[in-house]
Amino acid sequence: MRDFNNDRIDFRSDTVTQPTSAMRDAMMNARVGDDVLGDDLTVIELQQRVAALFGKEAGLFVPSGTMSNAIALRTHTVPGDEIVCDKTAHIYRYEGGGFAALCGASISLVDGEKSLMTSDQVRAAIRKSAGSQSHYPNGSLVCVENTANLGGGACYEQSVLDGIAHVAKDFECATHIDGARIFNASVATKTPVDRMTAHYDSVSVCLSKGLGAPVGSVLLGTTSFISNAHRWRKMFGGGMRQAGMLAAAGLYALENNILRLDEDHRRAKEIATFFSGTDGFDVDLSTVQTNMVYVNTEQPATFWVNHLSNRGIDVFDVGEHRLRFVVHLHMTDEDLVHLKQAILS
Ligand SMILES: Cc1ncc(COP(=O)(O)O)c(C=O)c1O
Repeated sequence: MRDFNNDRIDFRSDTVTQPTSAMRDAMMNARVGDDVLGDDLTVIELQQRVAALFGKEAGLFVPSGTMSNAIALRTHTVPGDEIVCDKTAHIYRYEGGGFAALCGASISLVDGEKSLMTSDQVRAAIRKSAGSQSHYPNGSLVCVENTANLGGGACYEQSVLDGIAHVAKDFECATHIDGARIFNASVATKTPVDRMTAHYDSVSVCLSKGLGAPVGSVLLGTTSFISNAHRWRKMFGGGMRQAGMLAAAGLYALENNILRLDEDHRRAKEIATFFSGTDGFDVDLSTVQTNMVYVNTEQPATFWVNHLSNRGIDVFDVGEHRLRFVVHLHMTDEDLVHLKQAILS
């Protein structure tokens, strides 16, 4: 469904979605206050609604997923700490080295299979200062990404998520989930988000990915964690004033755009099946569990980026011989027909 004027088909990311007319109406009619002063009722409603959905005590509305993760990392750690995550994690690869610059933390990388860590790998990656004659940094935080973006949008099994959280607790590490696409994971695995994140201290939830809102993430945790996070949000410049207009888009997305994610997953599978059956392309179908399809190409990926661009289709190359297609709420079945024709022409 595309209710704005655009004749291009944009597979670059699920962040490219534009607010639909109904979402814009919700934004236009939002009650607003001054959220820095704490009296924007729509922001308060959004924070409470998301926290309740995830079974967490409190939430904090922030401008982006990157800021949400940065605030979480900074709230959980002190300089000299170490954070455990997969080698392809967004917090490590694509957040400007914020873990180092903003937290003064180092990273202990896990070589996860398709970007998914196991509890044994996490146990082996945690280094504690105590008992090392102060040689080691202090491993104090374990971060999990679900879905795993560079893992092709793959989802953690619940037993693995729980196992990682238990290992972290055994080593007195806090736990954080980068849930930029956690609703995709929830819909694909049929696991409610409160169950999925039950053993995790904090969760970052993006509204501006598959849910289709223009801006915003909500960071979740205990009341005391969110109260500390609020201070870091201030210092990072993330306090917004009449933010209720943006929060209204988030509320609309929660009500209307979660269950439909199944449709995106179905289309992603269709794209993956097409490419895996077409000469010159290869797809690891086991990773195609949600709304992303990573396609290996015999020809240079840039050839296909240009070929498709000339036919009205936008896609990212993510390696010399690798393309990434991301399906989102503006995609239609006709778009898939168009894509297949464009590849074969
Ligand atoms: C897994 C993951 N985490 C965090 C982010 C950051 O979100 P934002 O672009 O809103 O800063 C992204 C962005 O695509 C992401 O894919």
